[in-house]
Amino acid sequence: MGSNILIVGGKGMVGKTIHRILQSRNQEYTIYIGSRKEAIMEYDIMIDVNKPETFMNVVNRNIDLIILAVNDKEDHILRFAIDNAIDYIDITKPTPDLVKALTIAAAIPNINSRIVFSSGWMGGLVSGLMNTLSRVPENIQEAKLYVYYSVKDLAGESSAHFMAENVAKPFICYQSNRQIPVRHFLNSEDFKFSFGIGKRQAYNFDVPDLYILNQIEKIPTVHVKMTYDSKLITWLLGTFQKLRIFNILSLKERRAIFGSSGNGDQSVFEIVIKDDQGEKKLSLQSKKGQAELTALATVLHTEMLLHTDFKNKIYFAHQLHDPIKLYQSLAEYEGITIETNI
Ligand SMILES: NC(=O)c1ccc[n+]([C@@H]2O[C@H](COP(=O)([O-])OP(=O)(O)OC[C@H]3O[C@@H](n4cnc5c(N)ncnc54)[C@H](OP(=O)(O)O)[C@@H]3O)[C@@H](O)[C@H]2O)c1
Repeated sequence: MGSNILIVGGKGMVGKTIHRILQSRNQEYTIYIGSRKEAIMEYDIMIDVNKPETFMNVVNRNIDLIILAVNDKEDHILRFAIDNAIDYIDITKPTPDLVKALTIAAAIPNINSRIVFSSGWMGGLVSGLMNTLSRVPENIQEAKLYVYYSVKDLAGESSAHFMAENVAKPFICYQSNRQIPVRHFLNSEDFKFSFGIGKRQAYNFDVPDLYILNQIEKIPTVHVKMTYDSKLITWLLGTFQKLRIFNILSLKERRAIFGSSGNGDQSVFEIVIKDDQGEKKLSLQSKKGQAELTALATVLHTEMLLHTDFKNKIYFAHQLHDPIKLYQSLAEYEGITIETNI
């Protein structure tokens, strides 16, 4: 299996972190960096996801795997990967875009590469880790994801665009397999976060794990709630939503609200499941923040894909991993702490 990898968006916050971690663990990989900027270094490739004519720059490089680390609304890179039988890992899709991309890929009769959707929270770690909590994952009746997001954490511009574009739109959570439309930052719930964070109000939040856990993993009840490190910001966003202020703000104004990036902070998420044995919880803290954790997840998927003989077809990232080994790989990484109550 070849190991020529192209990271599209490779100069962005997550893309450059993927590059650093991937290269440090796999000196033998050849890693190309895709960016809209003119190619300067040997392994730079000038590529704009909105201009398919620039994809010609990729064709004679024998790329085995494309990692997509920038929003590609029209799925040009997905189609290019499928047309050219190149493996593909995508960490970028919010739920509606994921469903659209899946429909596109599923409609293509012969896929001659591995197409991996890895857009769940923190590069698609939740479903895999959840499966370490239950002896019989098929018996999980309810899964809840609680996210703690610090506005002091490092975040790239593309990450912020999702919230700005989607904050005013309803999305679906699942209650006993019924699709319940909800909106961000409403329906608060008290949740006691681990790692010294303490009790917080957590609000509705749309991540692709809602879709993946219900539609793919067949868990009847799935909810996702989030809180910001700042209680004031969390409360303000809920108030804006209640008063429908997001509906009247322009996209530019919404981008200004969600576009902040700090100097770095921890990222925490907690998974709570109910199965036939009762309630169980897994809590994960990344002291190096969300970009590092997302990048590490992407690297673990890449290593699995390149070192294992998976068939050519569509995957969700967790389907590449043995859940216990995934847990161990994360727990071994500097700055990551995982706690469970099992
Ligand atoms: N699944 C998850 O858990 C998770 C977590 C975090 C982020 N993400 C996703 O990861 C992606 C990257 O986030 P980020 O924070 O790294 O954003 P970012 O810092 O803005 O990086 C994106 C990079 O892509 C490049 N770019 C922008 N438009 C482009 C285009 N039309 N064609 C080609 N390249 C383009 C830019 O570099 P140049 O100016 O050099 O072209 C930019 O540096 C986003 O889609 C975000 O939603 C997913």
